[in-house]
Amino acid sequence: MILLAVALIPFGVMAQEVKSPDGNVVVKFYLDKTKPTYTLTYKGKTVCKPSHLGLTLAKDKHANNGDREQDLLEGFTVADTQTSTFDETWTPVWGQYKTVRNNYNELAVTLDQAKMNRKIVIRFRVYNEGMGFRYEFPQQKKLNYFIIKQENSEFAMAGDHMAWWIVGDYDTQENPGQTTRLSEIRNTIGKCLDRQPGDQVDGMSDAVTGNSSTTVFSETGVQTALQMKTDDGLYINIHEAACVNYATMHLNLDDRNMVFESALTPDAVGNMCYMQTPCNTPWRTVMVSDDARTMLSSYLIYNLNEPCKIEDTSWIHPTKYNGVWWEMIVGRSSWDYTDELPSVRLGETDFAKCKPNGRHLANNKDVMRYIDFAAANNLSEVLVEGWNIGWEDWANRWKYDVFDFQTPYPDFDIKMLNEYAHSKGVRLMMHHETSSSVTNYERYMDDAYSLMNKYGYDAVKSGYVGDIIPRGEHHYGQYMNNHYLHCVTEAAKHKIMVNAHEATRPTGLARTYPNLVGNESARGTEYEAFSGNKPDHTVVLPFTRLQGGPMDYTPGIFETDLSTWSQNKHKIHTTLVGQLADYLVMWGPLQMAADLPENYAKHDDAMQFIRDMAIDWDDSQYIDAEPGAYITVARKAKGTDNWFVGGKCNEAGHKVTVNFDFLEKGRKYECTIYADAKDAHYDTNPKAYVITKKVVKQGDKINMVEAPGGGFVMSVIAK
Ligand code: NOJ
Ligand code: CA
Repeated sequence: MILLAVALIPFGVMAQEVKSPDGNVVVKFYLDKTKPTYTLTYKGKTVCKPSHLGLTLAKDKHANNGDREQDLLEGFTVADTQTSTFDETWTPVWGQYKTVRNNYNELAVTLDQAKMNRKIVIRFRVYNEGMGFRYEFPQQKKLNYFIIKQENSEFAMAGDHMAWWIVGDYDTQENPGQTTRLSEIRNTIGKCLDRQPGDQVDGMSDAVTGNSSTTVFSETGVQTALQMKTDDGLYINIHEAACVNYATMHLNLDDRNMVFESALTPDAVGNMCYMQTPCNTPWRTVMVSDDARTMLSSYLIYNLNEPCKIEDTSWIHPTKYNGVWWEMIVGRSSWDYTDELPSVRLGETDFAKCKPNGRHLANNKDVMRYIDFAAANNLSEVLVEGWNIGWEDWANRWKYDVFDFQTPYPDFDIKMLNEYAHSKGVRLMMHHETSSSVTNYERYMDDAYSLMNKYGYDAVKSGYVGDIIPRGEHHYGQYMNNHYLHCVTEAAKHKIMVNAHEATRPTGLARTYPNLVGNESARGTEYEAFSGNKPDHTVVLPFTRLQGGPMDYTPGIFETDLSTWSQNKHKIHTTLVGQLADYLVMWGPLQMAADLPENYAKHDDAMQFIRDMAIDWDDSQYIDAEPGAYITVARKAKGTDNWFVGGKCNEAGHKVTVNFDFLEKGRKYECTIYADAKDAHYDTNPKAYVITKKVVKQGDKINMVEAPGGGFVMSVIAK
């Protein structure tokens, strides 16, 4: 494979060039005849071969785009080019670092489409770790309201790279991750789409495993963030930043030429985005490095987002929580209050007259038990799902008025339970499952957030299970992306933090709206109770899903064999220590201790790590990393001199030397090491671990051995 950047651009064609501050990343822009085109190189190696840019517009009667027949694909001349440099340092409300440097060189190309009398701008920002570009549409008579039928941004790869990918789908991101060459994507997806009724589905491994809402759109369609590695060791990642008032982007691969093209999520009538100038697209990002760790430490996606728009952020805080949750996911108890109703009508069904099913976990006694556990274990909130009426017929019915988000079941005393929690220094965390009846949620939202204020809730987990109402809309379309952001901005008015499940994958918007403290938007721990997560899962996700924002992954499952306490026969695909390692590898300011109090009681010595651990950081130093294989990181707890070190690996196991160079010179630290035992293994011996203590100082080294599907963690507390 030839990766050298020779003769990428046709002889005699004038290109505009912009380089990263360190000179390693070079973007060239030129017109291929009249089509906008770019190339991208890193240290002289080709990352993107000539790739066209443009948009196809809808020929729609509502689109007043001057002349409806003409797309924004060709017929361009360069009217103007501007270059500039930007360098700032900003302070995130939470995250991996105390401060973040945002340093790039910019090229803005104004293009004239003379025949149509229209102008667009393509803006490139080039960082040491890659680049972003976006389309901008200044206000103008001949481009006023317009409808995007498709965005045709290309990313032409220079070879048949290895890729860590998830099938492109307009409605779910919860399919298992795949690791294949680009050329193998078609076959991997195709064999799932070709299944006949009765064919076996491997729920943990197949590319398409089914979901309560799913729309696969192509045999070569994948979602972003897409992580790749070239044969000569370049790590390339394609994603997007600041997806606002626009549809989420997927990538469709032309696998004869290895060219990805953007594939937006359509709306119910098949259009992608409704635009009114002045406006712009999100940034399309290509990160690149010859060091995998750079993919994890980079803030390129956040840097391409707007600064924080919330003036007072004092109410946004890191949150360790437990919840009335895992027991329901595993199947021992239920969200529903009663089994005797064929259906529920809000405002009519009288639950006080119904016979309780005896399995409803969001009841006063059990919620108090979870509150007591949180208070005793340094957890600040308790999520309670199944507290509000409507769960008896909530899913998969395309029912409109499923929940009102305000009326508790008779056995959940909302006032008493919040007061009880507050008396113990704990808060309850609200749950709003919308069942994807989105307009219904919007009509109740303000009342629901006000109810939260009334009782002292300051965080909500929301959810979008099932097909979207308005019917025909998709989870990642422009309509829904506007809804998710609306929830976040409305919640901010009520000083509420948001953690939305099944919502679109994040694109760094938490820089602008830091009350978006988490999202699920990928296959979470819940799947360990359904069909399983592969042991490499959490050493892929930080390269992919976490690029745009943290994930509410909900680790901390200490009882790895679910059959010990339920009818569920599944086992967790990590060691117990691997569950602890996920807290550090899968960073984020919202972390759940998801297991049951009684399972933690069996391993109280390991629980000590969860009690002690920080979840918000002044610094993060990646010790080693390789997608799908291992990640080791040392993180400095915010506002302290304490460090927490963690490593997680795939089924092959891993050895790593932790070199304590990052400690302050001359200072001693009490280091508690939680390690897999010698014979530990995620499948055969997951709960075997050893806890040791040592005093460490700068310059010391400790060799760690991680079991297959395991890891290690250390708390390193300054003396
Ligand atoms: C799916 C979410 O991911 C899960 O956490 C939640 O418990 C259920 N939906 C019910 O809302
Ligand atoms: Ca989910």
